[in-house]
Amino acid sequence: MVDTACPAVSAADLLALKERYLIPCVYHFYQRPLAIVSGEGAYLIDSTGRRYIDGFSGVTVMSAGHCEPAIIEPVTEQMRTLQHTTSIYLTEPVLRLAERLASITPGDLCRSFFCASGSEAVEGALLLAALHTGRRQVLAMNGGLHGRTRWGMNVTGLEMWRTDPDPIDGVTHVPFGDIEALEQCLAAEGERYAALIAEPIQGNGGVRVPDPGYWPAVRRLCDRYGILLVFDEVQTGFNRTGHWFACEHWGVVPDVLAVSKALGNGFPIAAFITNDTVAASYTRPGASTYGGNPVCAAAALATIRFHQDRRLGENARARGAELRDGLRSIARRCRSFGAPRGIGLMLGCPVTDASGRPDPVRTDMMLESFKDHGLLAGKTGADRNVLTFMPPLTINTAEVGLILECVGLGVADAG
Ligand SMILES: Cc1ncc(COP(=O)(O)O)c(C=O)c1O
Repeated sequence: MVDTACPAVSAADLLALKERYLIPCVYHFYQRPLAIVSGEGAYLIDSTGRRYIDGFSGVTVMSAGHCEPAIIEPVTEQMRTLQHTTSIYLTEPVLRLAERLASITPGDLCRSFFCASGSEAVEGALLLAALHTGRRQVLAMNGGLHGRTRWGMNVTGLEMWRTDPDPIDGVTHVPFGDIEALEQCLAAEGERYAALIAEPIQGNGGVRVPDPGYWPAVRRLCDRYGILLVFDEVQTGFNRTGHWFACEHWGVVPDVLAVSKALGNGFPIAAFITNDTVAASYTRPGASTYGGNPVCAAAALATIRFHQDRRLGENARARGAELRDGLRSIARRCRSFGAPRGIGLMLGCPVTDASGRPDPVRTDMMLESFKDHGLLAGKTGADRNVLTFMPPLTINTAEVGLILECVGLGVADAG
């Protein structure tokens, strides 16, 4: 809806406002940025009325598509009924949501603490691990991303997102996917660690999937040393990879699961979820003003229902296979555009120069060119050279074709 008191302005006008009034760390994609004014299903529409296919979903948030009526309607109804109280009162939506999450999360995970962002969920998950084990040290992975809070930023293993010039003690990073390195680290000082935190598939690290035996071996090591395994599924959760949670691909159940993003399909909600035993360690009063907000909880309940009704997990697998095949054939034709990696509709293609080194400049050219052809894709990786494709899970075969057409044209322009 357009606010008539404030008509849609151009991207240039918005850029001027941003540069004047936001803290400079808030960065944006594109040399020629667009101003997005509305969304519909798998599409975003800019201030000139141009439609783009959304290949990034607001970083894996809009898995059920933009402005989906099956979600908007119950949310609107909830807003008319009760917009906000807080977790000190009993309200039905958040408790129904906790019940629902217990039924879709793997293994014995059954108790949730709700908050408003992925960073907060990670912070809470690590606090819970410290309370349960009585230890303070944390293991994390190179290439992982876990948020902007102090602890979240410090367990992050990507230089670009570790802004804090004075890192906290007690965090050790190990190479992602390397079980021997982890074994060596634990053999020296395994009993010091409260938690090992990791994304099952690294998102911002450039869509990195470890070898099949890796997560089961990590699970065994955590058990041996009494370390809680914390999976950050803020990005991979809710059918992005074809299952409710990515850890299901390996049959590994974490002790704590951090979720957010696609859970609310655009409404700010997050949670850390654990089993009865670990939950029993967190008994001192805890509250979150927005954790369990009835509107966000209603959005999450409607989102989960929509995922089930529309079988979005199946669609992620089927459309993901089509997208992967198409990206692979583009990669065969263009040496600088690497073969896709990832699972389901979480795919990334590395961009390299003639000698095979990461090429962030060419990556930006491709990203810009995709946009000019009508596709908004993502960009991740320690070297900022991985183009990522994570569209809404509602996309159909024709929309996969549209994404591939834009990628083909963009790669040809910049390749
Ligand atoms: C894996 C992962 N964890 C945590 C976060 C932080 O979430 P938020 O931005 O909601 O605080 C992100 C954000 O991109 C993420 O991708």
